[in-house]
Amino acid sequence: MGFDVVVVGSINQDLTVSTRRHPSPGETVLGLGHRWGGGGKGANQAVAAARLGSETGMVGRVGEDEPGQALTAALRAEDIDVSCVGIDPSEPTGLAVITVDEEAENSIVVSPGANMGLTPRQVAECYSMLEDASVVLAQLEVPVESVIEAARAPSGLFCLNPAPAREIPPELLQLVDVLIPNRSELAALASVDLPSDRKAVLEAARRIEGPRSVVVTLGHEGALVISEDEVLAFAPSTVEPVDTTGAGDAFCGALANSLARGEDLSIAAQWATLAGGLATTKHGARDAMPTREEMERVL
Ligand code: RIB
Repeated sequence: MGFDVVVVGSINQDLTVSTRRHPSPGETVLGLGHRWGGGGKGANQAVAAARLGSETGMVGRVGEDEPGQALTAALRAEDIDVSCVGIDPSEPTGLAVITVDEEAENSIVVSPGANMGLTPRQVAECYSMLEDASVVLAQLEVPVESVIEAARAPSGLFCLNPAPAREIPPELLQLVDVLIPNRSELAALASVDLPSDRKAVLEAARRIEGPRSVVVTLGHEGALVISEDEVLAFAPSTVEPVDTTGAGDAFCGALANSLARGEDLSIAAQWATLAGGLATTKHGARDAMPTREEMERVL
């Protein structure tokens, strides 16, 4: 039996500063406080899937430094298999500098460090973890060639969260079963202006050739599932957000968790929408990933 979910992606240390408003270019603003936490879209999504009960493996890379050791230990403590987390002798562990304003909106700069040293070769060496996984889930904070290598592994479903927005080779898009962009990533991939309403989101998603299905996360507007034969809208849960960092990661991890259980995409998207909403009610990224108990309490 293979893993339920294997995540191929980034592992970062997050430095989050709360602020009344985001600074404009050239401006300094005084923050309201800061905190260090675990992050990286890959690691966050792995934690989300594991907390919801998936047997989860992580393929990634950290530096040979204290943050790298601590982040790997934290993933292990979440029952995630870290045997495919490599250690880079020359680059530091990835770092994300995040600001969160009073509206709970975040902006993020990532210094990828060791994450960019995740080579296709390291991914190929992890085939024993990837093959037979029910779901392989990847993002774009690691080299695209390595994501392609992961997508080629003989696993069940391959899901791609195209974050942050980057150019994606058509070869990779052809290998995607479920693409999970947010509104701006969708616009970049479809080469259109930011879609303002559902009709525009649908049109943009239909322009992307390759993926079998597209699940668009729309923040406080919920999510839209677009497959060849159906379009389904999912309303968000009513929550009081304090920090939107990691909401997309909670969504992706929960979607993978549900798909790995054999649920169909509509059930999985409903579950994922709930997880994304719950993640906004806590500060931080990894720390905000909901547990199964928290999800069931809300259900
Ligand atoms: O999606 C949120 C994540 O993006 C943060 O944890 C940060 O590390 C960046 O990767």
